[in-house]
Amino acid sequence: VPWQVQKHVLDFFFFFSLGCGTLLILDQNESGLRLFRSFDWNDGLFDVTWSENNEHVLVTCSGDGSLQLWDTAKAAGPLQVYKEHTQEWDPTVGKSLCTFRGHESVIYSTIWSPHIPGCFASASGDQTLRIWDVKSTGVRIVVPAHQAEILSCDWCKYNENLLVTGAVDCSLRGWDLRNIRQPVFELLGHTYAIRRVKFSPFHASVLASCSYDFTVRFWNFSKPDPLLETVEHHTEFTCGLDLSLQSPTQVADCAWDETIKIYDPVCLTMPA
Ligand SMILES: *[C@@H]1O[C@H](CO)[C@@H](O)[C@H](O)[C@H]1NC(C)=O
Repeated sequence: VPWQVQKHVLDFFFFFSLGCGTLLILDQNESGLRLFRSFDWNDGLFDVTWSENNEHVLVTCSGDGSLQLWDTAKAAGPLQVYKEHTQEWDPTVGKSLCTFRGHESVIYSTIWSPHIPGCFASASGDQTLRIWDVKSTGVRIVVPAHQAEILSCDWCKYNENLLVTGAVDCSLRGWDLRNIRQPVFELLGHTYAIRRVKFSPFHASVLASCSYDFTVRFWNFSKPDPLLETVEHHTEFTCGLDLSLQSPTQVADCAWDETIKIYDPVCLTMPA
């Protein structure tokens, strides 16, 4: 079932993994956010994503190198644990379908192309963005995107050739895969490393980024003055960010200050 069809089935739309191995499933209703379920894991959980074809299923990754498959309908532990990475982020050959090699440092982020089946991108501490295809084991495109570690990347849902990278050099850069010699845009303003970047699912030229400078920033890269809004509502590093696929204005972010903020930034409620 595509996510567009099942989006009304459940209203769970957000998640958060806490430093020491807890996955919280929050449920939004008229009176606010409610804790729906909580799962524990014996190591830190670093990231989480929902399945797009089963509204009950999520996958997390943890510091012990394993992936956990969870079912929100079942209070007990994970449905499945996949242990192939031998340490944080270091891949080894195992039972995975394919293993992709080439990066020369930690890989911080991967994202499927929303357009091209089997195509995905990865961002790494080796300062490159790489484009891969599951049908061939070698890398397709290597973009020397920054002269710093790249912590995050995202693929534009409106343009199959456009990706964005966010790096330790505080910059966001847009990349057109047809010409990677220089970025198609560069967004400057953050004052510490950029931890995550996400394109808007609703506005073709809008994206959001969060940073170790405690802020979340919204940008319209088509404008000469691209910074739309700076949100500073956390008291620690902001490390997670997502724009709702359901609501054109709703954003969720989270930080080392142990809070999640759900909000509608002014720039999305009143686009200029
Ligand atoms: C982004 O900027 C472009 C160019 O100025 C404008 O046409 C568009 O409406 C803007 N989008 C939003 C959501 O602000």
